[in-house]
Amino acid sequence: MTQASAQPRHILITSALPYASGSLHLGHLVEHTQSDIWARLMRSLGHDVKYLCADDAHGTPIMLMAEKQGVSPEQLVDSMREEHWRDLQAFGISYDHYHSTHSDENLELVTDIYNKLKAAGHIEEKIIEQYYDPEKNMFLPDRFLRGTCPKCGADDQYGDNCEVCGASYDPADLKNPTSAVSGATPILKESKHLFVNLQNFESMLKQWISSGSLQDEVRNKLKEWFEAGLQSWDISRDAPYFGFQIPGETDKYFYVWMDAPVGYLACLKYVCEQNGEDFSPWIDPDSDHEMVHFIGKDILYFHALFWPAMLYGAGMKLPNAVYAHGFLTVNGTKMSKSRGTFIKASTYLQHLNPDYLRYYFAAKLSDSLVDIDLNMDDFRQRVNSDLVGKVINIASRTAGFIKKKFNLTLADSMDQADLYAHFLSHHTQIAQLFEARKYNAAIRLIMQLADQANQYIAEKEPWAAIKDDSRLDEVHQVCTTGLNLFRALMTWLAPVIPDTAKKAADFLNTDLKHWHAAESPLLNHSIKAFKPLLQRIEADTLETIMEQSKEDLKAAQQTPVKGPLADDPISDEISFEDFAKLDFRVATIVAANDVPKADKLLQLTLDIGGVEKNVFAGIKAAYKPEDLVGRKTVMVANLAPRKMRFGLSEGMVLAAGPGGEDIFLLTPDDGAKPGMRVK
Ligand code: MSP
Ligand code: ZN
Repeated sequence: MTQASAQPRHILITSALPYASGSLHLGHLVEHTQSDIWARLMRSLGHDVKYLCADDAHGTPIMLMAEKQGVSPEQLVDSMREEHWRDLQAFGISYDHYHSTHSDENLELVTDIYNKLKAAGHIEEKIIEQYYDPEKNMFLPDRFLRGTCPKCGADDQYGDNCEVCGASYDPADLKNPTSAVSGATPILKESKHLFVNLQNFESMLKQWISSGSLQDEVRNKLKEWFEAGLQSWDISRDAPYFGFQIPGETDKYFYVWMDAPVGYLACLKYVCEQNGEDFSPWIDPDSDHEMVHFIGKDILYFHALFWPAMLYGAGMKLPNAVYAHGFLTVNGTKMSKSRGTFIKASTYLQHLNPDYLRYYFAAKLSDSLVDIDLNMDDFRQRVNSDLVGKVINIASRTAGFIKKKFNLTLADSMDQADLYAHFLSHHTQIAQLFEARKYNAAIRLIMQLADQANQYIAEKEPWAAIKDDSRLDEVHQVCTTGLNLFRALMTWLAPVIPDTAKKAADFLNTDLKHWHAAESPLLNHSIKAFKPLLQRIEADTLETIMEQSKEDLKAAQQTPVKGPLADDPISDEISFEDFAKLDFRVATIVAANDVPKADKLLQLTLDIGGVEKNVFAGIKAAYKPEDLVGRKTVMVANLAPRKMRFGLSEGMVLAAGPGGEDIFLLTPDDGAKPGMRVK
């Protein structure tokens, strides 16, 4: 299908809709880059592409986040949508439109789909028992429930799984449950919920998964789910909830995952209305219009079971493909805030051209679900050697002569037409590799060809031949060949590095948007003066990005936590070596005095076993000096002495609490003797 087909295909291409509750990070960008390359390729091949995405606006987290910020959920999702769309555009992600699931079109479509499912008998009602926060008057989603793990006894675990022992359990089995929203003890309460009966769709789903719409790995995963038995899917949530009300019910809302995938079609409907195009063929089961979803492997269940069931139940066409990708790791591990590898899209954009990262992702992405690693050293070396050292180099070694000697005009024939023909013999293959999402293989092939182009120029040595007037024609043809090879390479890379391709197109005085245009070389064609298209990446730029990311995310907490951690998140990780430098000692407070001129300080004399230390501690509001004398505590004994206004402070005592009256000196157990090392 990658030949210059007479009939363009009509393809809806989507990425998963980012939650409006957080900023976009480089993990998200894997997916947007993967789908954008595919969409750009399809456009370049002449197909009718609707490449769309939106923010996923609904759900409890957004509702609570808006409340915390003192804004309405609508205001919050509007501003997040703006931020996301700005970042995506800056990354060269070419959505034709970026919508929101909190839109009229989505309300209309999800209501319609629900009504059809209901009329066809696919919706059932069940009374379920769930934890309810009696202070906030709301049911608690599992992630807003905390308690003691019923398996291992670890405290402060989520409502349905334990991060310590890895167990999954029923929220009702959680011990000592508390609400992460208010801190209240939740009560179990009954409520009617609406379910989609998935079993009704089992045979349809089994047929659909064998239709070639899914990767083998995904098909196998689905088979496991079938074997485990399909459960009915709970699609309702009780008020208060930020979402769409369910028709015919009181105070019931569609669960966010019900209206989220409908958002794909809502965005399309909006675009069709804007363009005066017909929406109906896109949902007609008998039409040849295609629907292709790019998603991460974590949300397969929703896209490969629920979504096709909803569509089928509502009499709409099924997705033609659901393509899942793996997760991004950075330097070999999960993105980590403390290591500075949890990098926001906007942070990256402040420092580097998106094409670098797009290229690197492409060089790593395949059609499989394996995770992809962004290794910072490899990233820099690869981009510098491939893009700058190989591809751009072809133009920079030849363009100068065309300007200096040939009035910026290419020759009317090439020196070695067979090399160009060799390039073209891979033209279709490269498109096919991209279409099959084997971007890594496509890039490998393109770079092999770039090597051949460089080798050719090195052999021809135009810089030497130019010195000999009798060889001018030859130089003209060699440079013309080189620039045509460069043009072919840039045509293939244009979906991957659109910003650089645009600059290259300007220099070549052509456009690189049409795959098939490269089939005829540019001859007797005037070009513009060459300017460097991309700089090398410097190592310290990457370090700066990681440093800044540590700062960015210090305060930002994705999951709401209750208690002291909510306002005072855990600090950056330190190494064991850093920790081992601290010398904690048991100390007896032998004297304690008020420091009259200081609001907060008491002066303490601490005995750590024969050595006395003078320490000023900010505990005046919490302790009377006389109550402290004779008491034991713990101090950092090897802190460099610090000169304060009232004297020299030779260490610090350990205390807990936010300060003021709420500060609590640590007290070791009775057996501890002054001077003992605290480990
Ligand atoms: N809102 C849902 C999707 C609804 S689609 C109808 C959601 N949002 S998300 O913001 O959490 O994730 C959006 C997409 O980004 C998902 O496909 C997810 O897999 C992907 N990624 C999020 N973090 C990722 C990485 N670290 N690496 C690669 N992709 C990741 O899920
Ligand atoms: Zn546990």
